[in-house]
Amino acid sequence: MTDSIEPAVAALDAVLEPGTRLRELEPDLFSVLEPEGEVAHYDDKAAAYDRLAASRIYSRLAWGIVPERFTRYIEDALASRSTGWVADVAAGSCVASAEAYVGCSRPILVLDRSIVMLRLGIARLRRIAGHVPENVVFLQGDANALPLRTDSMSTVLCHGAFHVFEAPEPVCTEWVRVLAPGGSLFVTSLVRGRAFGDAYLRLLHRAGEVAPPRSAAEFAAAIHPFWSGEPRLESQGNFAFLTYERAEPRSS
Ligand SMILES: C[S@@+](CC[C@H](N)C(=O)[O-])C[C@H]1O[C@@H](n2cnc3c(N)ncnc32)[C@H](O)[C@@H]1O
Repeated sequence: MTDSIEPAVAALDAVLEPGTRLRELEPDLFSVLEPEGEVAHYDDKAAAYDRLAASRIYSRLAWGIVPERFTRYIEDALASRSTGWVADVAAGSCVASAEAYVGCSRPILVLDRSIVMLRLGIARLRRIAGHVPENVVFLQGDANALPLRTDSMSTVLCHGAFHVFEAPEPVCTEWVRVLAPGGSLFVTSLVRGRAFGDAYLRLLHRAGEVAPPRSAAEFAAAIHPFWSGEPRLESQGNFAFLTYERAEPRSS
């Protein structure tokens, strides 16, 4: 049996860290966190965030980019291989990714710290596809301590969240650990790039919502120490897209 046709939840055991306690919270939604750790920073603002992120006008005005550009990038990440697991880390409400999941037959782990964001992602997928496809699993977990076995993922994707991580090092370390040798990393981040977006980013930083705003080069430099090989770095508006395709993780 190929991993593309086995329901992803049934195949989870093979990629979850041994000893991980998986709890089904409700249909289509699982957690590896203890019940007392279920509440997350994004829970309260999930609905507002989701509305803004889904708005083309907001995205264009605030960040100088349209959401379809993100969906194309995510489709590229999912199509970078025909088989093997994808971890979509800090996937939130899947504004840009839900459509891309529907066209993909690989097993996809949609991980986020916030149950409320994940619920919105599940609802979005049900609106688009009528149900959560069998190859997609929604999991509450922490990007700083992925509940995944070493070398278990073929693709790690993290869209639109790098700038919210207070310290990127543990997150990057986890990406390197869980990616199988030769696996690919696709990461995007808000970065400095346009006067209006830069001012807005500084405001969000002062409000404690994002890390100190980085340039695209600083974003790439934060990830590069964890990898060998040359990344592809593109930017548009206030977003940067960093791709290490089939990069070998650094050995030390
Ligand atoms: C700005 S939102 C981006 C969501 C989605 N990727 C998107 O582009 O619409 C940031 C997301 O990161 C999640 N997040 C923040 N810290 C996290 C962590 N340590 N582990 C997992 N998810 C985290 C939040 O819950 C939130 O859903």
